[in-house]
Amino acid sequence: MWGGRFAEGPAAVMREINASIPFDKRLWQQDIAGSKAHVAMLAAQKIVTDADAAEITRGLDAVAAEYAEKGVPVDLALEDIHMATEGRLAELIGAPAGRLHTARSRNDQVATDFKLWVRDAIDAVDAGLQALQVALVTRADEHAASVMPGFTHLQVAQPVTLGHHLMAYYEMIGRDRSRFADARKRLNRCPLGAAALAGTGFPIDRHRTAEALGFEGPTDNSLDSVSDRDFALDYLMAATQLSLHLSRLAEEFIIWASQPYGFVKLPDSYSTGSSIMPQKRNPDAAELVRGHSGRIAGCMTALVMTMKGLPLAYSKDMQDDKPPVFEAHDLL
Ligand code: ARG
Repeated sequence: MWGGRFAEGPAAVMREINASIPFDKRLWQQDIAGSKAHVAMLAAQKIVTDADAAEITRGLDAVAAEYAEKGVPVDLALEDIHMATEGRLAELIGAPAGRLHTARSRNDQVATDFKLWVRDAIDAVDAGLQALQVALVTRADEHAASVMPGFTHLQVAQPVTLGHHLMAYYEMIGRDRSRFADARKRLNRCPLGAAALAGTGFPIDRHRTAEALGFEGPTDNSLDSVSDRDFALDYLMAATQLSLHLSRLAEEFIIWASQPYGFVKLPDSYSTGSSIMPQKRNPDAAELVRGHSGRIAGCMTALVMTMKGLPLAYSKDMQDDKPPVFEAHDLL
């Protein structure tokens, strides 16, 4: 794609470290959606012909069907999901495939794809948190009159109820949901049209692509559009704070399930035992929740350090934005 004036191809190790396809193949649905919106706009603006746009759209659907069926093939020579898809499209439909990249760059493309992915991730997290709140309030209701010690300094302080205690976590999760909702709102502007960094001379319609992809509108500054990763950091920071709450709740379960406390008995299906110490019911699930919060905070720190000190606009460092977000989301 970019090697036309290079006499030599990349060294093997360069090919390996340069490629993001092993992890960004996860963006394939967003990449196809972005390309379809882009080519529809190019046709509406008479930048490509309707016939070419129809070919390209049909081809993109065919590529998507292959990905859905067999997964995205990992070919390091094709670098990333954007080049892999365009490469496959060219194999399927020939010359018109090249017109898809008119008036765009991988820089505005990847920013758009990743925003779409994070937006879906936020929606998935919110659904999970809503279910957690329902579970908490249901249990709290059952235990509205179950008296237990309230603690300060982990010293028995005054009587409370288990319902009262669980509802404290309901509140924390409510604040987490509002943080994710806030991140979603701030994220929802479309970078397409910023191209590499300074926009394009083609008469594109940025409002049209923004609307087609469910954004509130286009972003305002092209340099910021291609170098902004605040949305990924917002996600990771909200995820970190959520994971702190989950870790505290897990810690309570671990304490309550220990023999000296004996407040709760965790179910078999979420405990592990020991062959030589039959009295044990280890709260592994809760311990993993507590442990994973450290990893999620690590993902957040990783992207903070990646972004710190990057000059405008895009730098390849930013390709490292995706693994920590994917990892934190999977852990959540
Ligand atoms: N794979 C790249 C990434 O994830 C896409 C953008 C590449 N842009 C570039 N100018 N090399 O960041």
